[in-house]
Amino acid sequence: MKKIGILTGGGDCPGLNSVIRAIVRRGTQEGYQILGFRNGWRGVIENDSFELNLSTVSGILPKGGTILGTSRTNPYKKPEHVQKVKDTFKTNDLFGFIAIGGEDTLGVASKLAKEGLRIVGVPKTIDNDLNGTDYTFGYDTALNIAMECIDRLHSTAESHNRVMVAEIMGRHAGWIALESGLAGGADAILIPEVPFDINEVCELIKRRHARGKTFSIIAVAEGATFKDGFETQDQKLDEFGHVRLGGIGQRVAELIEKMTGFETRVTVLGHIQRGGSPTAFDRVLGTRFGSHAVELVKEEKFGYMVCLRGRNIESVPLDVAVGTLKTVPPEYYKLANAFFG
Ligand code: F6P
Repeated sequence: MKKIGILTGGGDCPGLNSVIRAIVRRGTQEGYQILGFRNGWRGVIENDSFELNLSTVSGILPKGGTILGTSRTNPYKKPEHVQKVKDTFKTNDLFGFIAIGGEDTLGVASKLAKEGLRIVGVPKTIDNDLNGTDYTFGYDTALNIAMECIDRLHSTAESHNRVMVAEIMGRHAGWIALESGLAGGADAILIPEVPFDINEVCELIKRRHARGKTFSIIAVAEGATFKDGFETQDQKLDEFGHVRLGGIGQRVAELIEKMTGFETRVTVLGHIQRGGSPTAFDRVLGTRFGSHAVELVKEEKFGYMVCLRGRNIESVPLDVAVGTLKTVPPEYYKLANAFFG
């Protein structure tokens, strides 16, 4: 029986189990045996896998997280680890491999595919910052959670006449902050793509309160930067060289209170945005992505990633997807700006 290996890598994301289930159900219908590797690329380096079958994936569709586990392991950190990945492919006699991940996991997949490994990719990230696809699964769930948080902050902000700062995930791209802020009616949205001037934010809040409004909501992406500097929680880097972000919301809140005199609070949404059950959109997108990934393996179209274009599921070369990040275009931010204040 031909074997397909699969892994989930990077930060977890609502909808991962929908993809796994779809691969197993479609794959077994096509006569493949499916091997699930544990904890991202680490499981492939360590040849740590188990067989996935219909009963293993039964009931996982509405569940958050990933039944395979995940990690931010980068095999390219050590040449011997790349060799171990190749050995695992050989030992298990894999006909094909499906890597489900974001820019980092698929960056590794892209390099390995160029070295001749039979890999296809499935785009995952709550940040929605992968090129080559209109949407990644997980984004819709995170967006709706962030929007609900902004909705909830409104009533408490209004009751206490406060400014509320919501710190929202998004390292290099501000999609979640921008669209949850737009959907939730935030009074200012600060994103990594557009460094902000804290004086302008404070002036906007003061003008709004002068008009008779007694509260304000500010949505801040965790990667947002001041025009004159950068705030990070610590300087520790992960295996892909990303710094751990956090702290910008607190800093913005302190400055707003100091510069406007309005009582201000900060809420860090954090991993709440990544946990729990996926929305219908993400379950369906994950199911369609997983099914199409099996088709790509069947066609031996390796080195490609499944993607969403309009309403259609298509595929793009992996290196197109991982070359650069898909950030918020300036004209979209301009549109949002018209609703600030
Ligand atoms: O990439 C998804 C993401 O949730 C980012 O928005 C965030 O910066 C990062 O992961 C957090 O990573 P970790 O879970 O490793 O702290």
